[in-house]
Amino acid sequence: MQKFKRTLITTALPYANGPVHIGHLAGVYVPADIYARFKRLRGEEILFIGGSDEHGVPITIKAKKEGVTPQDIVDRYHSIIKKSFEELGISFDVYSRTTSPTHRETASDFFRTLYDKGEFIEKTSQQLYDEQAGQFLADRYVTGTCPHCGAEGAYGDQCEKCGTSLNATDLINPRSAITGNVPVLRDTKHWYLPLDKWEPRLRKWILEDHKEWKPNVYGQCKSWLDMGLQPRAVSRDLDWGIPVPVEGAEGKVLYVWFDAPIGYISNTRELLPDSWEKWWKDPETRMLHFIGKDNIVFHCIVFPAMLMAEGSYNLPDNVPANEFLNLEDDKISTSRNWAVWLHEYLEELPGKQDVLRYVLTANAPETKDNNFTWKDFQARNNSELVAILGNFVNRAMVLCHKYFDGRVPEAGEWEAIDREVMLDVDKAVERLADNLEHFHFREALKDAMDIARTGNKYLADTEPWKLIKTDEARVRTIINLALQLCANLSIAFEPFTPFMAKALREQLHLGTPSWDQLGNYALLPAGAEIAKPELLFSKIEDDVVEAQVQKLLDAKKANELNAWQPEKVREEVSFENFEKVDVRVGTVLECSKVPKADKLLQFRIDDGMGGRTIVSGIAKYYKPEDLVGKQVCFVANLAPRKLKGVESQGMILSAVNADGSLTVIGPTGPVTPGAQVG
Ligand code: 2FM
Ligand code: ZN
Repeated sequence: MQKFKRTLITTALPYANGPVHIGHLAGVYVPADIYARFKRLRGEEILFIGGSDEHGVPITIKAKKEGVTPQDIVDRYHSIIKKSFEELGISFDVYSRTTSPTHRETASDFFRTLYDKGEFIEKTSQQLYDEQAGQFLADRYVTGTCPHCGAEGAYGDQCEKCGTSLNATDLINPRSAITGNVPVLRDTKHWYLPLDKWEPRLRKWILEDHKEWKPNVYGQCKSWLDMGLQPRAVSRDLDWGIPVPVEGAEGKVLYVWFDAPIGYISNTRELLPDSWEKWWKDPETRMLHFIGKDNIVFHCIVFPAMLMAEGSYNLPDNVPANEFLNLEDDKISTSRNWAVWLHEYLEELPGKQDVLRYVLTANAPETKDNNFTWKDFQARNNSELVAILGNFVNRAMVLCHKYFDGRVPEAGEWEAIDREVMLDVDKAVERLADNLEHFHFREALKDAMDIARTGNKYLADTEPWKLIKTDEARVRTIINLALQLCANLSIAFEPFTPFMAKALREQLHLGTPSWDQLGNYALLPAGAEIAKPELLFSKIEDDVVEAQVQKLLDAKKANELNAWQPEKVREEVSFENFEKVDVRVGTVLECSKVPKADKLLQFRIDDGMGGRTIVSGIAKYYKPEDLVGKQVCFVANLAPRKLKGVESQGMILSAVNADGSLTVIGPTGPVTPGAQVG
């Protein structure tokens, strides 16, 4: 492997058209932050870049819907996203935005450089145009049927069903998302980056020189390359974005996927106006892009081709993209509100940042899609963070206070069991570093947890609370070692759960942590005072997670109601046929449940004709006593049928609501029993 002096870590810039959710966190930001913190602990020179992606069609669509400007939208979400990342402890060195003046200048200059070098193809082609709205329909402004899988509602840039990336003109039966009209084709000029020109170099660079990339990343790149690359438009007819900086480009902006990755460069420049270039152009800088799987092609093919065309920049050394995280066994969906939003989590579960970081790491979708459930969240907190990690640290510190006044006792000679513990921890630390270095964060978390497991087992095996009566000297050694393990834990967990790690270091009165302190069993000098232990984690009760599950169910219900469409009107009937159905009004005289049938109610109706019995399947929605005395409409000439042994002489009319519940239909004022409806 090439020797690098420093590492530039970038994270996908989230679109500022909504807040971030746990899927984004598990896929990109938590793993990137773990890696950045690990590297800092090692004393390596790193730069950790984040920022908001503030261009693109979805932002303009949202603005239109709300009757505000796209700038209003991105201002709102940029600040929500930035604040929530800070609160979760995502330790960016810079978090900026693509509407910043530095970015506009950087992206514009980048385009201009490629333009001046003759790296673009200028081409006039026919694009979809909405005559009523008076604009071209780029990307998400068009929907239609996917030409690959036949799914309805595919967008002009991608089908979300089968994941294929599309051109708007590929869609079958395209419709404008602005007016719903059928668009027409009109000529327009755009600039294309000829990806085919870079294909041979991309093939060699990825398929031969980067065989070490994760299989999911390597595989996706290979299939793209094997399909053959085409020139790709890097401009759009839109009024939101960075204007194309050449003459004759009025009304055209840079395509969002052209400007967004340049955001990594702009944000470096904004932070380090005088020294940014070493982070991008010095071959001794290693660049890593942390992204989700939907961004692979842009970071492994399109952006590298842009960098190759420019000529003076480094290419990424690795792109450790993750798969997707599901929520309660269902795909996370922003539009269906099936998500756990970070800013809401922080508000509703205050002080529990580490728990979320821990659970998302333990369930990271590193090799395949993974799942988050609130039950698992609770179980991991209660039976891992509280019962293993928190419990060990607390026991060690409490014993130190109980027997040695809160001062670290001096260790005597190490015995075999002590040396075994140290060996186990040494091995866990070795595995931990190796897994972190190779982006295996789930495994790494287990390694860190193994240190706490070892500690618990050590206390259980040595039983210092019994030994204290007979061999205080030995107990001094045991507590000393247990406390040294606590000190090691405060370093090993710093990348994963930084709030807990810091609190623990403060309780132990430890200074700045560094990775090479791991495996040192004299971090706390004998005689040093430690604080009274404060619980690092607390149990999460059932009601807390039940409330979260309920919130999701409510969102699902609201979404179903939103998506509800009335039933299609049935086939036309003639007036004569309609008249055959004899609907009457009756008064409920008696109503009771039908035995052994949870859905059925049995009615005695005053029908003005001596009374009749009707059985109706509405027991889930009404208490029998609530209906007595009410007037209802019923079909009087329906052929009698037996339901659970009771003969029903007609049918009470009810309406089916959006959620499937039934409401009985009756007159709005008093009606003589037996009156005909029609
Ligand atoms: O998929 C997304 O959310 C994009 N906004 C990611 C952009 S990554 C980079 F190129 F900025
Ligand atoms: Zn499709």
